[in-house]
Amino acid sequence: MAVNITHKVFAQEESATSLKPSQNQPSAVLTVKKLALNLAGKEVLQQVDFSLSPTGVTTVIGPSGAGKSSLLRCLNGLENRWSGAVKIDGRDIRQWPGGWDQLRRHMGLIAQKPVVFNTSIRTNICFGLLGWRQRRRADELVKTSLQQAALWDEVRDRLDTPATTLSVGQQQRLCIARAIAIKPKILLLDEPTASLDPRSKQLIEQSMLQLAQEIPLICVTHDLEQAQRLKGQVIFMCDGQVIEQAASHQFFNQPQQIETREFLRWNVCDCD
Ligand SMILES: Nc1ncnc2c1ncn2[C@@H]1O[C@H](COP(=O)(O)OP(=O)(O)OP(=O)(O)O)[C@@H](O)[C@H]1O
Ligand SMILES: [Mg+2]
Repeated sequence: MAVNITHKVFAQEESATSLKPSQNQPSAVLTVKKLALNLAGKEVLQQVDFSLSPTGVTTVIGPSGAGKSSLLRCLNGLENRWSGAVKIDGRDIRQWPGGWDQLRRHMGLIAQKPVVFNTSIRTNICFGLLGWRQRRRADELVKTSLQQAALWDEVRDRLDTPATTLSVGQQQRLCIARAIAIKPKILLLDEPTASLDPRSKQLIEQSMLQLAQEIPLICVTHDLEQAQRLKGQVIFMCDGQVIEQAASHQFFNQPQQIETREFLRWNVCDCD
């Protein structure tokens, strides 16, 4: 999907002085307590509790309709009708300086379908850069972000060509590069490889594992093998609730809950 951009956002972001991203930002720890979301009379999320350590990938698995995407949308404020407490480094995200727009800079969300702006590869990456310090380092940031997203080798000679000419797998990696160029504190990914070929999937997983050495990632997936490859923590959700959370090795080898065992065996859950 290609999106036309305006430069209004630059002007808005330029004026936001607090919490500007910097090269040496410490990693965040996310805590979620009693998160609940009711939409059209349905309890989409109920009493969701979990916390993230400063690095590593946390995969969120569960049947369709479990509330996985809704959870990510609440965390980065795309959905803000929830109750409960969500904190980054002890700071309530509802009180975030600059509001939800600023928060989203710190909690990038990569969707299943890549959304690239209808402009060059380079401009896509530079889109969120703030202030003269980051702009002055734009070339360097473009290169390092594309390297971290495992895309540099494929696009280094065509940075000024339209991003829409990239394959879907490349566009997804471009979205990751654009998100990491602004140094997020946490990266949220909603089925980022669901429609991609095995090679693109492998490259994105490599990139996620590399990024996870510096910041925490939350990745929603239906691919249980991917959840095992990404290691870290696994959260199993069903019917808006966290049924089980454990380190990947323990989760897959010694699941504690009967619902988890059934889901791992049959890929279905009848807790709802
Ligand atoms: N705006 C809305 N109004 C009413 N119900 C909604 C709304 N958005 C989501 N839901 C419902 O919330 C539940 C959770 O949806 P969500 O998209 O979070 O599930 P999911 O776990 O991501 O599923 P999938 O694996 O299919 O992507 C679903 O029953 C969905 O129909
Ligand atoms: Mg979903």
